[in-house]
Amino acid sequence: MTRYSRITGTGSFLPPRRLTNADLVAELAAKGLETSDEWIVERTGIRARHFAAPDVTSSDLGAEAARRALEAAGRLPSDIDLVIVATSTPDMVFPSAACILQSKLGIAGGPAFDVQAVCSGFVYALTIADSMIKTGLASKALVIGAEVFSRILDFSDRTTSVLFGDGAGAVVLEASDTPGILASDLHADGKHVGILCVPGQVSGGKVIGSPLLTMDGPAVFKLAVGVLESAARAALAKAEMTEADIDWLIPHQANIRIMQSTAKRLKMSFDKVIVTVDQHGNTSAASIPLALDAAVRSGKIKKGDTLMLEGVGGGFTWGAVLLTY
Ligand code: UT7
Repeated sequence: MTRYSRITGTGSFLPPRRLTNADLVAELAAKGLETSDEWIVERTGIRARHFAAPDVTSSDLGAEAARRALEAAGRLPSDIDLVIVATSTPDMVFPSAACILQSKLGIAGGPAFDVQAVCSGFVYALTIADSMIKTGLASKALVIGAEVFSRILDFSDRTTSVLFGDGAGAVVLEASDTPGILASDLHADGKHVGILCVPGQVSGGKVIGSPLLTMDGPAVFKLAVGVLESAARAALAKAEMTEADIDWLIPHQANIRIMQSTAKRLKMSFDKVIVTVDQHGNTSAASIPLALDAAVRSGKIKKGDTLMLEGVGGGFTWGAVLLTY
């Protein structure tokens, strides 16, 4: 019998501190930076984001999201034999946020590791977990996207500091004799490192270079729209399906204009796109599982629906996962 993997539960967690655009505009104005709710809404679709308290880490947010996903799946932490955390803002240089999170859930023994593919992290992590389940290396995985991007924002740069937020989303992915994950398509092109990066590194007890996010927004925008279409088409082709088979498109939540362009290129109605960027901002690797969980819990996404998940971001990385929920 063919072995597949299937999502059996979703969960998410947002830190309680919520900043509307008006709140952030006021904070930035106090630092002499000029921006506005109108600019942010018109150019990005973002209306609010959440920022974690200074002592809260990615593994804290991720552990809470994981507990909720486990509850939804009807599983205990002790059932889990693989933990993968997609994050670019881990608690420490090492060990991984996944190991720290594993211990917060009170479990041990199965492999636990982080995946660093920035905003594509969740589709990378889901694909790795799917492969490990299909090859028998694991049977019940927690796949988590967790970020505290507020830590790496340059609050003297209005072109980036209004875009990002903190949060975590998680799924339980289990071995199944029915699919599940139907196809994945992952890519990277390292020649674009410079258009979206945090270039600093720890060396000799100091941070060498800037530890803050820098982005050429228009360059990222242009690349993102093209690759989101091609990755979706490639995943559909692998599964011998067409865009008409997709019930819900869950793209990385970076900018509503990118999401609108992607839907248009895929000839999909925007009604079929899950949108949380307005309330979460860009939460990098957490954005897709956060959006997925919101849509599952609101009743939009139902068992048996066909979902296209798509990530794009620093690296440059991009990818898509097509699945039956
Ligand atoms: O998560 C990984 C993937 N990341 C993304 O997908 C992000 C992709 N990029 C974007 O979403 C958009 O490029 C941004 C939202 C970052 C920027 O939007 P844009 O329409 O590309 O604007 P722009 O960078 O071309 O800037 C337009 C104008 C500039 O002023 P001038 O030169 O036309 O006078 C900027 O200085 O908007 C100005 N501007 C702002 N004004 C008010 C830039 N940021 C702000 C701001 N408030 N916060």
